[in-house]
Amino acid sequence: MSEAGGVNGGRGNGGRGTLLDYEAEAAHYDRTRGGVPRAEAAAQAVLRLVPASARTLLDLACGTGLVTERIVRTGLSVYGADAAHAMLRTAATRLPGRAVRADARRLPFPDASLDAVSAVWLLHLVPFAPEIVAEAARVLRPGGVLIATVDKDASHDVGSDIDAVLRPLRSAAAAPDRAEAVTRHAAAHGLAPAPGTHFVGHGQGATPRATVRKLRGGYFASWYDGDPAVTDTLAAALTALPHQDRPRDDPRYRLARFVRRG
Ligand SMILES: C[S@@+](CC[C@H](N)C(=O)[O-])C[C@H]1O[C@@H](n2cnc3c(N)ncnc32)[C@H](O)[C@@H]1O
Repeated sequence: MSEAGGVNGGRGNGGRGTLLDYEAEAAHYDRTRGGVPRAEAAAQAVLRLVPASARTLLDLACGTGLVTERIVRTGLSVYGADAAHAMLRTAATRLPGRAVRADARRLPFPDASLDAVSAVWLLHLVPFAPEIVAEAARVLRPGGVLIATVDKDASHDVGSDIDAVLRPLRSAAAAPDRAEAVTRHAAAHGLAPAPGTHFVGHGQGATPRATVRKLRGGYFASWYDGDPAVTDTLAAALTALPHQDRPRDDPRYRLARFVRRG
């Protein structure tokens, strides 16, 4: 699913899908994105990729801090940065003194000052993923790691009957967080690929009925320019599926890792 919406409260997503206003979304965010089980899975996956020697980590697009506050390891100081005031207000209660309002393209940290930077569910939202990768490379020390979700839309294809309906359109969509593209941007800024990991999006399994709602709301519009005839055809196919309210499998998100060269 395309949950587009970038900095400045949801403007400027490069025409990908419905604009999502994170200033308004903050009140519902934790309840509607898999809550604690998803956040715990994401945080544990990030921690698996952080070197044991790391002392500082900045979680970009920390949102409400639900994931960030769970990235906990003895000796590791964790900071959060987000562009949306309302998301950050909640994050500030979870990360007292360690939450900063910032655009991920212009971080208030000196060059080579951090051991790790994470970005869970950010790069798929914005048309300027290369700038975010470049900024992360700037603030990382040699040997430091960038950990980021990639291929988010593709992760939602769990091989279900819903995916069989959506797949032809999904495969045509060029997402800004394509692993191959992010790896290319990373290489251009001295970040070498390293083994990554996955985490389960607990509570994120799609139902046919909810998928029709999202379809009608324009979530997938960027995949096919929102042609109303296509929308109607897809909605009819989804409505014909059995078990309209039974969630299909949870998605499995991919976390890529890149190491800053010396
Ligand atoms: C889908 S939420 C992810 C939040 C959190 N990482 C999580 O996994 O729950 C995306 C977040 O990205 C933030 N965001 C979008 N564009 C940004 C930018 N250019 N710089 C910093 N934050 C940004 C939004 O405000 C929102 O809080």
